[in-house]
Amino acid sequence: MKTYAVVTGASAGLGREFAKLLAADGFGLVLVARRRDELETLARELTASHGVEVVVLPSDLTDPTTPTTIVSEIERRGLEVEILVNNAGFGSNGNYWELDTQKELGMIQVNITALAHLTRLLLPGMVAKGRGRILNIGSTAGFQPGPFMATYYASKAFVNSFTEALAFELRGTGVTATLSCPGATATEFARVAGNDKSRLFKMGGTADAATVAKEAYLAMLAGKGTVVHGLKNKAGVQALRVSPRAAIVAVAARLNKPEAS
Ligand SMILES: NC(=O)c1ccc[n+]([C@@H]2O[C@H](COP(=O)([O-])OP(=O)(O)OC[C@H]3O[C@@H](n4cnc5c(N)ncnc54)[C@H](OP(=O)(O)O)[C@@H]3O)[C@@H](O)[C@H]2O)c1
Repeated sequence: MKTYAVVTGASAGLGREFAKLLAADGFGLVLVARRRDELETLARELTASHGVEVVVLPSDLTDPTTPTTIVSEIERRGLEVEILVNNAGFGSNGNYWELDTQKELGMIQVNITALAHLTRLLLPGMVAKGRGRILNIGSTAGFQPGPFMATYYASKAFVNSFTEALAFELRGTGVTATLSCPGATATEFARVAGNDKSRLFKMGGTADAATVAKEAYLAMLAGKGTVVHGLKNKAGVQALRVSPRAAIVAVAARLNKPEAS
């Protein structure tokens, strides 16, 4: 039986790159995101170039019922899922009290709850078979508080902590959980978050999405625990371990401040 990989947020950015890497290795795909056209175009390309079956499930992960619907559809089709890439996510930028309430709560639903729910639904089958891979996309943002992106940084703190703990619990099961922590990366993220004019994206430089995805993908296949992408980000995360918390918050605030000149 062919095995499948579920990729959330496959319509753009890193998710699209993960789908390409998986298809090139012969995995069938279940692609999730809201934009049907982007998913269907990608599915046609991947089937044509790699001969893999691609199931497109256009869905909104802000809806709390979406993970159950996705897994029911996977079961109905009899697909064996070996890999789950929890990649869908987004941010926002500004003073928390002025940001759109539904967008902030939706962010918690997509970045945290949907990730935890899909993992909870798909992991038992992997553990029972003694075979499987979870790849969760956290962030370097998850190692620190981030003023002007408070919900986003906190959501990634959940992903980072949750995945590292899960990786430990899964030892000896044949299933692994890998945490990918990109820093600023050239995708649609900054435009969607509205922080493309912040110092973080304007002055810090961005990593290439295909390069970041490949590194995360290879780490996942190898069953590695955590990967922080890029030398600058690795050094930054190490610096966080020895820096005073107040200084860390102040630096993050400076990087995230909306429309910094
Ligand atoms: N780019 C960076 O600088 C950076 C750095 C660290 C971590 N990350 C993380 O990397 C992951 C991928 O982001 P990216 O950089 O590739 O950004 P992106 O280009 O904006 O892609 C985000 C993906 O998430 C999907 N998505 C967003 N809201 C959704 C919803 N309500 N329901 C279903 N899917 C939804 C989007 O699809 P639709 O719009 O079609 O729904 C899209 O496919 C995210 O978890 C992000 O937090 C990014």
